[in-house]
Amino acid sequence: MGFDVIVKNGRVVLEDGVKNTDIGIKGEKIVKIQKGLSDPNAKIIDAKNSYVIPGGIDVHVHFVLPFCGTVSKDDFFTGGRAALHGGVTTVIDFAGQGQYDNLWQGIEEKMRIAEKNAACDYSFHIMVTGPKKIKDLDYEFKRLVDNGITSIKMFMIYESEGWQSDDADILKALETAKKYGITVMLHAESDKLIKYYINKYYPNGTKVNDAYGHAKTRPHVTEGEATSRAIRLAQAAESTLYIVHISAGETADHLKRAHEAGVLAFGETCPQYLVLDDSVFKKENGHFYGTCPQIKKKSDSKRLWKALKDGDLICVSTDTCTFDSKQKAMWEGDFTKIPFGLPGVETMIPVVYTYGVKKGVFSITHFAKLISTNPAKFFGLYPQKGTIKVGSDADIAVLDDKQTTVKASELYTNCDFSPYEGFKLSGFAKYTLLRGKVVIEDGKYTGKEKDGKFIKRKPYGYKLLDKPFKVQPKKYIYA
Ligand code: URP
Ligand code: ZN
Ligand code: ZN
Repeated sequence: MGFDVIVKNGRVVLEDGVKNTDIGIKGEKIVKIQKGLSDPNAKIIDAKNSYVIPGGIDVHVHFVLPFCGTVSKDDFFTGGRAALHGGVTTVIDFAGQGQYDNLWQGIEEKMRIAEKNAACDYSFHIMVTGPKKIKDLDYEFKRLVDNGITSIKMFMIYESEGWQSDDADILKALETAKKYGITVMLHAESDKLIKYYINKYYPNGTKVNDAYGHAKTRPHVTEGEATSRAIRLAQAAESTLYIVHISAGETADHLKRAHEAGVLAFGETCPQYLVLDDSVFKKENGHFYGTCPQIKKKSDSKRLWKALKDGDLICVSTDTCTFDSKQKAMWEGDFTKIPFGLPGVETMIPVVYTYGVKKGVFSITHFAKLISTNPAKFFGLYPQKGTIKVGSDADIAVLDDKQTTVKASELYTNCDFSPYEGFKLSGFAKYTLLRGKVVIEDGKYTGKEKDGKFIKRKPYGYKLLDKPFKVQPKKYIYA
């Protein structure tokens, strides 16, 4: 059999373990996995002594998002290129409902933006920001699934952006979503509690030069209350829920109990919640770290690592929403006005590889599950993506074990600072293949705009996960 590319002698991370073997690629697909492959006409990628993983799938990025009075800085080219340097080959971005009374026009708008210059593969979730405007939710959900979009995001905060849903909106979405195999993703923070804390600590509205105020007014209970409420809504509707960007240790406890009770509630966390803590807000440029939910305590990170290890959290994503120092300066000393979000897609794999695998928290196989296989399964991309298997897309990253000291000026993301500045990380991509095309070669970008394409997704992804989650609640969550 002839090959276009052979990845040779790597430590290939398969779903059932690591194997020293070769990967033969023809066109966009993996066609053979076997030691000793050869073809005089094939391009050879030397992966000796390196881990070879399925391309990362970051299911949570916001490229060119209009938010907090500005627009996030990474687009589908700069963000996609940064992703590829970090071994991520597919991203799922969030299209917005915007002013529309339907859920399709927003997708079409974002599609037009992405197809102009995407450097890596992509899909979209739709952010349902005006649920009461939608006339026929059944029609909208069916149209989404028919066109390969199988997840929506709703918000329990962001009243000021006009994005907030109430419990009744969320229940209705959960009820309707289960008919079509759609996942309802939730930004779970308690609007009422955040307002309570702001009023408690800043009764006169003075918030001058106090980035730490962001942390003070969003303690873990603000996420915990919203999450536990959301889980109960999912339990009532017997529907699938996915809590995004989990920051608080107690949220992992709520999910664990939900799983024990057979509730289909899942969740992700992000590198910023795993390796940073809220002392960052006391730094000179503490406001750079403003993101929602805010970065919590060391004890929260510890619990989140355990949840990743135990399977109570199923994915790591990034919530990439890049605002540079000029945009962050819009806060003018008021923490409620920080453009919320951080860059991250480029550093996700290095952070989780360095602090998860190299520090011995979990195996490289488990790592691949968290950053690629589970996201692919849960969000309907598997087995096209998320695995190294014959027949799958040849989305592959060869990780460089060399330690690099992170400098924002050397990253490819469109930002002039990095939350991980000075961190010593291993696991940036030495080679990245996107559907068989070598787009990172010896650490250099060799791809081009429009290499990325839209990937349709399938419904009911949760059914593919390892752990047997049951549909019917079996017992009380807090029995
Ligand atoms: O602060 C954040 N996370 N910005 C992006 C929007 C969101 O809530 O995910
Ligand atoms: Zn969010
Ligand atoms: Zn987000």
